[in-house]
Amino acid sequence: ARRSLIAGCGGYLPARVVTNAELATRVDTSDEWIVERSGIHRRHIAAEGEKTSDLALAAARAALEHAGIGADAVDLIVLATATPDNTFPSTAARVQAGLGMTRGFAFDVQAVCSGFLYALTVADSLIRGGQAQTALVIGAETFSRILDWSDRATCVLFGDGAGAVVLRATEGEGSGADRGILSTHLYSDGRQYDLLYVDGGPSSTQTVGHVQMAGREVFRHAVVNLAQAGQDALDANGLTAAEIDWVVPHQANRRIIDSTARKLGLPPERVVVTVGEHANTSAASVPLALNQAVRDGRIQPGHLVLLEAMGGGFTWGSALVRM
Ligand code: ACO
Repeated sequence: ARRSLIAGCGGYLPARVVTNAELATRVDTSDEWIVERSGIHRRHIAAEGEKTSDLALAAARAALEHAGIGADAVDLIVLATATPDNTFPSTAARVQAGLGMTRGFAFDVQAVCSGFLYALTVADSLIRGGQAQTALVIGAETFSRILDWSDRATCVLFGDGAGAVVLRATEGEGSGADRGILSTHLYSDGRQYDLLYVDGGPSSTQTVGHVQMAGREVFRHAVVNLAQAGQDALDANGLTAAEIDWVVPHQANRRIIDSTARKLGLPPERVVVTVGEHANTSAASVPLALNQAVRDGRIQPGHLVLLEAMGGGFTWGSALVRM
């Protein structure tokens, strides 16, 4: 059957690194508090004028190079972001122009921290349906632009970055016929708006707004929802946790990652963790972590990889991939 194969991946992090110690000079916090509660040591922050599309373009170019193809081979761009360059047009269209692509189609999806899982699902569906052959799926964010830098409860948790994968249609014949995206699961529950949202937007306040979060409540829901999404992925494929080579979870908080892995019965040594270095980069976190583990050789062709994420909405989801 026709499937989407992950043919390459890439990432980009802004040059500037902000440590916990630097944040402690701006708000009443400490390195100890941030590390103990979240596992975060540092984050990358975009330079003035550096936009989400700039980060996305760099990640997309790295993914294309890794896949060994040019932008002219791409006929679809799906970009996940909650921090677009502009209200419209889509940031995906900016990336399309930046790559010099004049064919195919490009659009954004918005599911905050689950955005990459949503974008991957949409691109996979379009490929399996025959409407695309080769897709760039990108998660890119500049959350630094929507943080209240005087609110210590939120500003210490996030960072900027972008990650991308190239998906290619495969007809699943010959060797490696079992490779590709095996299943995706998406969920949302709009009743949980109050627990995690941005208090601005074009239609409500005509401002950009800032991230508002009930941290403890989000934490509780995250572990339950992520474990459920992961279990649904296993069940749908008749697999047990023991058969998973790697989990690449959304990187919001070390304790959420550890608790979820424990609930799923996955040992910590099979979980990719980047939150310490990147903090929470929202839609970029899963493809950035995937890229890191592929580039350093932990994730190998043929490995069974579980991706999962949870974010505002609430939205959450999982994908099971044979690399
Ligand atoms: N430095 C020092 N103290 C702080 C800070 C800070 N940066 N932030 C909050 N505190 C204080 C609080 O004011 C509170 O003080 P009080 O007891 O005097 O009122 C105290 O620390 C404890 O606060 P809690 O919120 O109860 O601490 P908790 O252990 O729950 O940790 C945290 C907070 C890290 C936000 C945690 O709840 C969490 O990670 N939640 C998940 C949030 C998340 O990951 N969101 C990302 C988006 S959704 C997603 O991606 C899954």
